[in-house]
Amino acid sequence: MNLLSRVFSYELPTEIVFGNHSIEQLPEKIKKLQGSNVLVISDPGVKDVGILDKVTAPLREADISYDTFWDIEREPDVKTIRKVSEKAREFGADLVVGVGGGSAQDAAKAVGVMMNNEGDITDYAGLEKVPHESIPTICIPTTAGTGSEATIWTVISDKENNGKFGIGGKTVAPTMALCDPMLTLSLPAPMTASTGIDALTHALESFVNKATQPISETLSRESMRLISKSLRQAVHQGDNVEARYNMLLASTIAATAFNPTRLGLSHALCMPLGAKFNVPHGTANAILLPQVMEYNLVGNAEKYKEIAEIFGENTEGLPLYEAAELSVKAIKKLNQDTGIPAGLREYGVTEDDLDYIAEGSIGSDNCTVNPRKPSIEGLKEIVRKSI
Ligand SMILES: [Fe+2]
Repeated sequence: MNLLSRVFSYELPTEIVFGNHSIEQLPEKIKKLQGSNVLVISDPGVKDVGILDKVTAPLREADISYDTFWDIEREPDVKTIRKVSEKAREFGADLVVGVGGGSAQDAAKAVGVMMNNEGDITDYAGLEKVPHESIPTICIPTTAGTGSEATIWTVISDKENNGKFGIGGKTVAPTMALCDPMLTLSLPAPMTASTGIDALTHALESFVNKATQPISETLSRESMRLISKSLRQAVHQGDNVEARYNMLLASTIAATAFNPTRLGLSHALCMPLGAKFNVPHGTANAILLPQVMEYNLVGNAEKYKEIAEIFGENTEGLPLYEAAELSVKAIKKLNQDTGIPAGLREYGVTEDDLDYIAEGSIGSDNCTVNPRKPSIEGLKEIVRKSI
């Protein structure tokens, strides 16, 4: 649609605090938000590498009352949210801190919501369904990819029903994102790669989709530029502080790009792949993305040409479509260089599952904004090529 005939808006409900060693500011940020009983929500991986301690030590020093729940599983389930919400109520939590990747942060956001809203977490699936703002919530990312620290969305699994659902809106967004790149230094290479490509998928899907707008486009460009520059280094030189800094910045920026635009087919297909086959979110995106791009090229060739250029491809003198195709080549190379698994077969996905996956994705709002209107056959073809 012609931009001159559109009205767009941009709002960021979350304050972003970013910088190396910014974790040291956690006590003063909690005090600013008037937190006096803090529930810190995290996962076993974060605890094992000592990051949880890095978060709670300043709280002890500042004499802030806190309790921890560090047993959030990957793709947190509705039952976990109910259990942690109960614990938060018993403890009288008035502020929630989520420390970890997308799972721990999404769990913290969901618990924050349930502390100020009646009923069950499943009542709030969808956009702008949560009436009351969550209690103050601070998200601290330890991976550079999910962007959960700065999005209006939390994604929760319903494993009993092989499903996943998103809860989104201004009342769900964290109050603050406290982003300290130093916390990402210990992230192993495979996780650095898959979460980094998740960040890229956020920036890219927002950039090419039908709902994008100039502010999101600008943020996406910068995010992709940083990822092009730094993802390989972050994967292969984990202690490279500049690369880690750039990747966390890229991830947080990508989140701010896609808040008002949604995403695309990669994220639509991730939902059934995560729910039934337990494919980690970032890995699913990384495997799917080149095939999704190939499918979408006809929908927005000019943008794909620009992506090719951001990733260092020489498009000079080429017809538009050939230039656009180079973006797919560039992302396939990035996947190879960062050790992304070759296909979904490693997770038990077979051709027999194509109907289930396509039908489980086609209704997603991420399909509605995709630059090419997807068909069931088209989605099946993308997944078939990704097996
Ligand atoms: Fe994602």
